[in-house]
Amino acid sequence: MLSSDLPNFSETVGYIRKQVALQPVAGIVLGTGMGRLADRIAPVQVLGYNFIPHFPISTVESHFGRLIFGHLGGVQVVAMQGRFHYYEGYSQQQITYPIRILKLLGIHTLFISNAAGGINPALRLGGLMVIDDHINLLPENPLRGANLDDLGPRFPDMSRPYDPDLQQTAHAIAQQQGTPLATGVYAAVPGPNLETRAEYRFLRTLGADAVGMSTVPEVLVAAHMGLRTFAVSVITDECDPDNLHPVSLERIVEVAQAAEPKLTALLEALVVASCGPGASA
Ligand code: HPA
Repeated sequence: MLSSDLPNFSETVGYIRKQVALQPVAGIVLGTGMGRLADRIAPVQVLGYNFIPHFPISTVESHFGRLIFGHLGGVQVVAMQGRFHYYEGYSQQQITYPIRILKLLGIHTLFISNAAGGINPALRLGGLMVIDDHINLLPENPLRGANLDDLGPRFPDMSRPYDPDLQQTAHAIAQQQGTPLATGVYAAVPGPNLETRAEYRFLRTLGADAVGMSTVPEVLVAAHMGLRTFAVSVITDECDPDNLHPVSLERIVEVAQAAEPKLTALLEALVVASCGPGASA
């Protein structure tokens, strides 16, 4: 992003601050078919993306497009109900613009969910996978161009983009809740097409456990700004190259929605444990 774009940030933040008194400490990005975690938030203010200056507008039908400010388990949060994908035609800077704004609004922790295909055969359909690391196969990079020195360094470290303490806390919570929780590497691809059998083999060879079309741009920008980040995938289809069935968006959304209650319970408890009073992680 060019430094000439910087005034946009203050205009966006200024507009939101004028509308919303709540000061969020955590941001939540709701993935495909998982927008209903939002129902757990006691809302203080809801802002449609189309009203927020310089915000991109979501074009995907399975995503709403609004920012929800409120309390989740007593924690002051802002949730993005609807996110932006490269395949929609947005630039990486547009995709990550809201994450910059959430940080400027004061969040210190970011929670991301997504739908992903299971590359690792040990992953179960409808199961959850904590993202411990990623492989970025997306074109372009949201950090390309003049560095926003006020927000982070030119060459951000990527040794631990996903906070280990948050992962550990998530595993402890999942165990208490009786929810199986895998850990793995997420590969981000541009989409919008799903992968061929040969591509699934290729991704497995690369070391990916799951594949999807989101999350990594947001995580790069979050890491750049020093946000503590947690991300979790719902495995919505099994990417077995030797037994590959056609998969539709409807099916992906259906599986994601079926997993929603356990994902919601996990994320809510994690937000409280890591951002509530007496937070340990
Ligand atoms: N590939 C890419 N993105 C996805 C998939 C997949 O199999 N499933 C859900 N998002």
